[in-house]
Amino acid sequence: MQIYKVGGAVRDRLLGKPVTDIDWVVVGATTEEMLARGFRPVGADFPVFLHPKSGEEYALARTERKSGRGYGGFTFHASPEVTLEEDLIRRDLTINAMAEDDQQNLTDPYHGQRDLEERILRHVSPAFAEDPLRVLRVARFAARYAELGFKVAPETLGLMRQLSESGELEALTAERSWKEISRALMEDQPQVFIQVLRDCGALKVLMPEVDTLFGVPQPEAHHPEIDSGIHTLSVLEQSALHKQPLTVRWACLLHDLGKGLTPEEEWPRHIAHEHKGLKLIKAVNERFKAPKDCQELALLVGQYHTHGHRALELKASTLLELLQSFDVYRRPQRFEEFIVACEMDARGRKGLEQRSYPQADYLRGAANVARGVAVQPLLEKGFKGPELGEALKRERLKALKAYKESAAS
Ligand code: CTP
Repeated sequence: MQIYKVGGAVRDRLLGKPVTDIDWVVVGATTEEMLARGFRPVGADFPVFLHPKSGEEYALARTERKSGRGYGGFTFHASPEVTLEEDLIRRDLTINAMAEDDQQNLTDPYHGQRDLEERILRHVSPAFAEDPLRVLRVARFAARYAELGFKVAPETLGLMRQLSESGELEALTAERSWKEISRALMEDQPQVFIQVLRDCGALKVLMPEVDTLFGVPQPEAHHPEIDSGIHTLSVLEQSALHKQPLTVRWACLLHDLGKGLTPEEEWPRHIAHEHKGLKLIKAVNERFKAPKDCQELALLVGQYHTHGHRALELKASTLLELLQSFDVYRRPQRFEEFIVACEMDARGRKGLEQRSYPQADYLRGAANVARGVAVQPLLEKGFKGPELGEALKRERLKALKAYKESAAS
């Protein structure tokens, strides 16, 4: 049997990037031979094994034929006769379809190295269409390598468009899609991921609620970029520039969905878009089974981002309600994430990227003041149960009024 390094490890070494995961392909071996060498099978019908010591993935060279829709729909054909070239041709991109032996000799039948140099993300063959998840993968690679100048080849974008229009994307499981989406959002230029999905018509299928924001105008005074879709991309871009966590990036992507529901005659204003957007945010959250913390923050940011922007003008009682809604006493981190998401929203506007956002420190201060109200003196006064809750609220309101006055003076 011959063993080769394949995929991302070869690509990233040639790009001079750090290699984290190594995938191997094994040519000329049978399942029995792999088991005899101590490799552990990953799944019953899957010709992939884990190395007994390193735990790295070793896949038997295989050709793949599609038998049905979705992930479960694959049949694999792995046999010792399958050649390295036959294995590589069914992979997604030319830059991912190179193999290397232990002497670092490159096997590159589909010109991945040329495409690496020319900064092109190009599919290897029509077998690309065997796995619709690749539409998301290509968009993710476009986001990851955007800073190096990589672009999707027009013929690959065309194929991605065909796949998007064919209904295949709808067959992807929430889990597989979310894995790609969450990884893509954590790249340095996640806005490129969304843009590429839009360019090939996949965004309309995966997140029509986001797609529809493009072409929806906002008031120029607050939004020099005007377009709600462009604004959303900029907010996402800001969230990555500021190294925000996934929760914040997800909330940034979904914060303005309500603007897609505004009747045209109300444009460019978007009255109550915060509230109207909630059912859309919920739908997208559930479609991809986003983790609970992402779901929660997206809903809260959707509902309250305008409160964040108006923080300095809010009445003390409204400020208190905001803090209560976030349960800022037990969940301080979540409120902090809300604050930064609002800040990204304020900066994700054309020409305003460097603006200051005094609301952030003001909100942090307010949260500290409310948290600083001690319970003990109220207990000592004999408050219990719901009355204690009411008394606490009164004290917090008092403290917030004082805070607001001192901030104003
Ligand atoms: N691959 C593919 N189609 C997929 C998934 C994977 O063709 N849907 C192939 C590609 O050749 C890829 C290799 O399997 O390079 C390994 O896949 P994976 O580990 O998921 O990705 P990497 O390319 O290693 O990229 P990353 O750095 O994102 O992990």
